[in-house]
Amino acid sequence: MSIRKQLDHAPRPGVRTFTPRWRTSPLTAERMERLLPAAQVPDGPLDPVATFGRRSPVVLEIGSGHGAAAIAYAAAHPDHDLLAVEVHVPGVARMLAAADDLGVRNLWVHRGDALPLLTEAIAPASLAAVHLFFPDPWPKKKHAKRRFVQQHTLALIADRLAPGAPLRIATDHAVYADHVREQVAAHGGWEVVEGERPSWRPTDGFEAKGLAAGRSITDFRLTRQPR
Ligand SMILES: C[S@@+](CC[C@H](N)C(=O)[O-])C[C@H]1O[C@@H](n2cnc3c(N)ncnc32)[C@H](O)[C@@H]1O
Repeated sequence: MSIRKQLDHAPRPGVRTFTPRWRTSPLTAERMERLLPAAQVPDGPLDPVATFGRRSPVVLEIGSGHGAAAIAYAAAHPDHDLLAVEVHVPGVARMLAAADDLGVRNLWVHRGDALPLLTEAIAPASLAAVHLFFPDPWPKKKHAKRRFVQQHTLALIADRLAPGAPLRIATDHAVYADHVREQVAAHGGWEVVEGERPSWRPTDGFEAKGLAAGRSITDFRLTRQPR
């Protein structure tokens, strides 16, 4: 794909950043039925005070998988509310079960695509941080349009972050790290720090897989440059 197309500002209809395929086991179904209703945020514009029952810093994790980082963040920051958005039902079920076992109550879920959630439900300047940990790398060049970090997603996240709030991205794929550098530079207006691994993030999930495969981890902390 040409660089011009990769840096296209507009979202591309029908281009998904995930593969919507999984098997829902009886255990997954039981966990979702038992635990999702209390943890899921209602459809429509998010009213944090009504939903979380308090005024708190709200952190969004995009593509939380089975939730190790989301749970660790919520446990380490009891005064914050962490909203995990994930399409993959078995991952959500596993996260809910683990959070329930640990008694973590400040972890919330939207089971679905992060893009419409960010676009339609999250108010401007309302998020204390956005986390994107080990996004699907889509390493083939022809799939680069499926990578979550694009011009339009950077613009959307920039708008939803509170002033000074960080977008944290971690990846174990050198191709994706280069993609992030390129997209962020093309978008402009971000201060970029590399190599700052959050101390609360467990080495689990896809980070562990990447390390086991001999890949190195790149952490980005992006904040909007003051105007
Ligand atoms: C490679 S996994 C990483 C999971 C987890 N962050 C970890 O580090 O173990 C990427 C996850 O992002 C999810 N995902 C991809 N695009 C998404 C989107 N637009 N909205 C919500 N989840 C998405 C996928 O379903 C998948 O579970």
